[in-house]
Amino acid sequence: MKVIITKSYEESCKTVADLIIETVNTKENPKLGLATGSTAEGVYPFLIKAYEEKKVDFSKTSTVNLDEYLGMSVDHEQSYTTYMNKKFFNHINIDKSKTYVANGMNDPAEEIKLFNEKLYGDKMLDLQLLGVGVSGHIGFNEPNSALISGVHIEDLVESTIEANSRFFENKEDVPKKSITMGVGDIMKAERIVLIATGDNKIPAMKSLLMTDKISTDCPVDFLKLHRDLVVVIDENLAKGVGFSN
Ligand code: F6R
Repeated sequence: MKVIITKSYEESCKTVADLIIETVNTKENPKLGLATGSTAEGVYPFLIKAYEEKKVDFSKTSTVNLDEYLGMSVDHEQSYTTYMNKKFFNHINIDKSKTYVANGMNDPAEEIKLFNEKLYGDKMLDLQLLGVGVSGHIGFNEPNSALISGVHIEDLVESTIEANSRFFENKEDVPKKSITMGVGDIMKAERIVLIATGDNKIPAMKSLLMTDKISTDCPVDFLKLHRDLVVVIDENLAKGVGFSN
């Protein structure tokens, strides 16, 4: 595991964007696993800027997103399709037919099949971008007595519903279920880049960075098993965690 400590969240986003650009510029048909959420949100403007400055070309890139709320229509303002289009895809030269964000309204069994085709039909992911949940989740793989390796339907835990309620008018409006890559799917990416910021991520990041255990109570722990994990955190979070290089 490589840990990069930056001066600020902004610098973390730039660092992560540079790692993504390096992958897109060096792989023949780059395939990216992408994330939504507030932490990943700051990465996309740096990618768009690099595209505008002609430092990166997304025309050969394909993407698969980590997850989506179950029962969420594609054109809902909080859907992850809307997020990806608004914050990234609409601003770059990507072929949208080569992007995939699960459709939360489809029959779950059919959508799981399609998700797997998108993940494994051509090539594996070159790079998976990750945030981490307050619960320690990656994708929507929540703490549990057992984790699931492949694409599946997952119940969100209370802390995730609480954390994500900031995007909805009422907490009751937050969907309770999701469709998500499993931990095994995430682990198959050639490189994983995790970005985290904020005091509410201290417990999960402490578990990742300060202990040697791998517990299903903290799914982010499983990233310790990955051969090419890059963790990017700002110095405030590093201090809160008690981590130094
Ligand atoms: C998003 C995802 C989630 C988020 C995590 C952190 O596609 O899979 O795991 O990365 O919930 O979200 P933020 O950054 O909003 O705290």
